[in-house]
Amino acid sequence: MLESFNLYIFGGTGDLAQRKLLPALYRQDLLSSFSKDSKIIALGTKEMTNEEYKLIIRNSLLKYSKICDLDNNSWDRFSERISYKKINIKSETDWFSFAKPNKSIGSIYYLATPPSLYKEISIALQKNNLINHNSRIVVEKPIGSDYASALEINNALADGFNENQIYRIDHYLGKEAVQNLLALRFANVIFENIWSNSAIDNIQITVAENLSLEGRGDYYDKTGALKDMVQNHLLQILCLVAMEPPTDITSESVRDEKLKVLKSLALIDKNNINASCIRGQYSEGSIDNTLKKRYLDEGGVGKGSATETFVALKIMIDNWRWAGVPFYLRTGKNMAKKCSEIVIEFKSIPHNIFGKDKKLNTNQLILKLQPDEGIQLKLMTKEPSVSGFNLKELPLDLVLNEYHELGHQDCYERLLLDVIKGNPALFMRRDEVEASWVWIDRLVELWDQIDIPLHEYLSGSWGPSASDLMLDKENRSWRNGK
Ligand code: BG6
Repeated sequence: MLESFNLYIFGGTGDLAQRKLLPALYRQDLLSSFSKDSKIIALGTKEMTNEEYKLIIRNSLLKYSKICDLDNNSWDRFSERISYKKINIKSETDWFSFAKPNKSIGSIYYLATPPSLYKEISIALQKNNLINHNSRIVVEKPIGSDYASALEINNALADGFNENQIYRIDHYLGKEAVQNLLALRFANVIFENIWSNSAIDNIQITVAENLSLEGRGDYYDKTGALKDMVQNHLLQILCLVAMEPPTDITSESVRDEKLKVLKSLALIDKNNINASCIRGQYSEGSIDNTLKKRYLDEGGVGKGSATETFVALKIMIDNWRWAGVPFYLRTGKNMAKKCSEIVIEFKSIPHNIFGKDKKLNTNQLILKLQPDEGIQLKLMTKEPSVSGFNLKELPLDLVLNEYHELGHQDCYERLLLDVIKGNPALFMRRDEVEASWVWIDRLVELWDQIDIPLHEYLSGSWGPSASDLMLDKENRSWRNGK
């Protein structure tokens, strides 16, 4: 059982709290992770009684929780922990009425609010003496919208909290399959010697979504795929794939190695930008037999908006291990299917002993992150026959879902438990966030200087054909989650 805590959720009536945080907390409460006196205090701008708030949460658990058994006993126990408090963060009186934290119980401030409020809330917490050595603050991505704003937020957080009290969430790091990358690379001896430009031809990281904006048009239109997904999730995955072996699994060792990768990302070449960067926006099309509207007709999207809903990039890493190996990253909304995976494509064999007419596919190691979790290695094998020597590609297939005993917990469960335990390993350190913004800012500067085309792609496709062409020109192709 964990030590007692008071968890304050700013934005307690918001989407994140209802969809993710409360369902994750409920499930862990069911598993008896929390001590009896641990409390959840939701904070919001609306006037509401505790009972009214609890009703909202009960309904969201029924809607979003993966467990259907909302039996009365477990709900009663959970709801006992919950209370609601109205707060106007601009009101000194409201802050004054905030009970001072008990030094022996961890006080966790979870900012499930727009990032524009992070600085203000952090300053108010400090001004009102609500921070002690046992306090933690949790903020969601995006931390800012560029390097300068990220710096401002990080500085404000640092005024009140030590770095080890600040938990910057990138929920992809809470996913089992993403953490499994560390196990694959560093708990097995067979990969490390070939994990470099000596044997690897290219690496693809795809995070494709078959959903559109889910009611977040306003935010998304100001953000776009590059800042919403690449700056954080895709670059974090790239770091885990490309980093050097850390000394140990502690948060500082792993973060030090990730930071080195971020600092080694080569700038995209201005004179050759169309060969390294494709932007797209979805048009009408159908996904699973449902007609999807075009981006420009979505709620919250500005008239004639040029925001990208798809981006494909070719990134080079300037270091000894990865010189010459392109990392192709792509992500998009309204794509053919939900599919996040990493493809490590190995080089061709140096000499084909089977003859020129026998085509040999390159080996591919495919790390499936979601919705299925697994590891697949594509190998060439001999086709059984009494004459000749014909070759066929077959997969070695490890379906991880079949081996999980706990069933699928949501990544927020893991992350919330880590915050409560005080373990920051799966959270981003400030220098990582800042380094990734430096790289993204430079790319955005290029986008502003050069008129990069915004390619339309059909909803339900794998993105604009220009993205296929980008690889085609280099005699490569995307795997497209086959
Ligand atoms: C969020 C993005 O960080 O990640 C969303 O803001 C995106 O736009 C989501 O849909 C994807 O997360 P997941 O876990 O569904 O792959």
